[in-house]
Amino acid sequence: MEKTAQKNKATKDKGIIFKRWLIPALTVLIVAAFATLSLTRKKEEPTISHTEPAVAILSADNLALPKPELRSSNSLEAVLKNRRSRREFIDKEITLKQVSQMLWAAQGVTVDWGGRTSPSAKSTYPLSVFLVANKVAGLDAGEYQYIAGDRTPVHELKPIKKVDLQKALYEGLNDSAFHNAPAVLIITGNMSKMAEAFGGIPHDKEVYLEAGHAAQNLYLQAESLRLGMVTISTFSNAIVKDLVTIPPGDTIIYLIPFGIPKL
Ligand SMILES: Cc1cc2nc3c(=O)[nH]c(=O)nc-3n(C[C@H](O)[C@H](O)[C@H](O)COP(=O)(O)O)c2cc1C
Repeated sequence: MEKTAQKNKATKDKGIIFKRWLIPALTVLIVAAFATLSLTRKKEEPTISHTEPAVAILSADNLALPKPELRSSNSLEAVLKNRRSRREFIDKEITLKQVSQMLWAAQGVTVDWGGRTSPSAKSTYPLSVFLVANKVAGLDAGEYQYIAGDRTPVHELKPIKKVDLQKALYEGLNDSAFHNAPAVLIITGNMSKMAEAFGGIPHDKEVYLEAGHAAQNLYLQAESLRLGMVTISTFSNAIVKDLVTIPPGDTIIYLIPFGIPKL
């Protein structure tokens, strides 16, 4: 009898311990697990995605570009009136500051959520801008990629390859606009990135439209800087891909030779 009573008491004690400690401890654990899960979820929520596509990088050191100017002596209206496609350039180098201003006009990040000088459907930012520098003061002749930045402006050039492409582009593409051009911009688009933003449904149209927005910014910026440029959309894709390092998933939309225009 006494043994049974002792056994009952022990079981009762265990029950009290269970209620007093184990239940609160389990509750704390469950609450902590939920809190951690919801915090992780919040962190993962993508607000905007605009990663730069991967390219074959030969040098790890990016080059900081001069800060873009936010003022000029031109009015927007005068720039609009004077804008023209210019296909002939004098054989003279341009400055890194001019190149920096052009790149910023095309895709520079201007607000802390990642918004850029050009608009983008669903803030997807599917465009990349590559620079072929032929004669740019302070830059080795070669290929570079513009790094706009994600939420914080980065505004740098990523060197891809040291190479003099001036003659090869002119001869390969058989287009006189490349003859003396000290620099060429290449705007490419990542169609998969845009499709992803639309739940997997292709939206190539938006990517081409965005290239148009960026190109118009460039036309106006070039005019304001007294530079000349032309947007070229008819070229041999194979020849460009053969000469320039373009990520395999990118569509080449525009080639834009620019420099000091021949008047
Ligand atoms: C979508 C598009 C594609 C173009 N493609 C070429 C081209 O492949 N080669 C070229 O020399 N000019 C090209 N241009 C420039 C046009 O020829 C030029 O805009 C047109 O002659 C009007 O001249 P403007 O730009 O001086 O007003 C293109 C323009 C646009 C808008």
